[in-house]
Amino acid sequence: MDGRRILLIIGGGIAAYKSCELIRLIRKAGGSVTCVLTEGGSHFVTPMTLAALSEARVYTSLWDLKDEVEMGHIQLSRQADLVVVCPATADLIAKMAAGIADDLATTLLLATDKPVLTAPAMNVRMWQHAATVRNVAQLRGDGTIVLEPDEGEMACGEYGPGRLPEPAAILSAIGRFLGVRSRLSGKHIVVTAGPTQEPVDPVRVIANRSSGKQGFAVAAALAELGARVTLVAGPVKLDTPRGVERIDVETAREMEAAVSAALPADAAVLVAAVADWAVEPSPSKLKKSDGPPILSWRANPDVLIGLATSGARPPLLIGFAAETEDVIAQAGAKRLRKGCDWIVANDVSGDVMGGNSNEVHLITAAGVESWPHASKREVARRLADRIADVLAAGPDA
Ligand code: CTP
Repeated sequence: MDGRRILLIIGGGIAAYKSCELIRLIRKAGGSVTCVLTEGGSHFVTPMTLAALSEARVYTSLWDLKDEVEMGHIQLSRQADLVVVCPATADLIAKMAAGIADDLATTLLLATDKPVLTAPAMNVRMWQHAATVRNVAQLRGDGTIVLEPDEGEMACGEYGPGRLPEPAAILSAIGRFLGVRSRLSGKHIVVTAGPTQEPVDPVRVIANRSSGKQGFAVAAALAELGARVTLVAGPVKLDTPRGVERIDVETAREMEAAVSAALPADAAVLVAAVADWAVEPSPSKLKKSDGPPILSWRANPDVLIGLATSGARPPLLIGFAAETEDVIAQAGAKRLRKGCDWIVANDVSGDVMGGNSNEVHLITAAGVESWPHASKREVARRLADRIADVLAAGPDA
């Protein structure tokens, strides 16, 4: 990020304190930061703190700008390479969407000709309110980058999407936008996600409860670190993460074919809940009047074992293990049986499948690490971080 200039607008939310860490990270990465603090923001962080961290003057009011003869607010809005709004409150997003300019921050946002990246943070109900959904869609339509907030426990005690993404993730998004090389740039990683569906006849399928959320979060986290990600997805109702190439498949066989077509890769993370068996599908609809059908089952290919034994095995191969009992022992045995380097074990006897959070154990040749209960996004970021450590150090690390 050498020499890149960020104009950082800090809105009035409890997450404002995280902007302090963001300033530190941007500067550590070689960028410079000029802060604009809204009236609301000044109730959470002080100009003094921001000035000390950014080692630059902090602007709080339109009327601070002594050089208004030279249109100081226009200058300020144009000196940066990128304008970052962090945290962006529901109110600030609404004003941006409507083009209201009633203070320094909103005036700068209306006057700037530079790209704007927005990191929202608010209560889950505010984030999901029809007005905010409309405003975010408007902003995205206008070309503003709006990051998805994280899911998790909120300062108000509620749980859901609305938390400010971690400063490291915001830094990655800034770096990606500015075309700055990041930890996984130049690496290609294949991720599988979601369930597979095996047809019984033209209308019926055999399915499972996987929502795809964990796999999509892994793909998003790897892309945030600059990897080129191919996401092979079973049937799910999820948006494609930013910067990820998605290939939709239905059956285990299609998933296997899509994965092998995506090779070579530096790593593969197989999160999908692949159906272990399929039936010979009937070309016409099975009629109820014929009574319960007798299905003839056949085993599906095991995508992970196929990859582990192929000549194009990625240097780092990671599986996920869905277990309901003896989680660590079963998953450890599965790692050896399937020939992968790491396996991420999760207990799926509760509401993990379809839920937003997860508690996992990372099992490698070195042993077992039990990670705390966290949102699927946080689990994904932690895993992506570990993958980056290994790939940066070389596959033998
Ligand atoms: N997997 C796969 N192809 C299959 C089944 C599983 O690639 N046909 C992969 C999954 O994507 C995951 C790992 O293997 O990375 C473990 O999946 P899991 O469902 O836990 O294991 P199974 O092989 O299905 O074993 P079991 O049902 O006996 O637990």
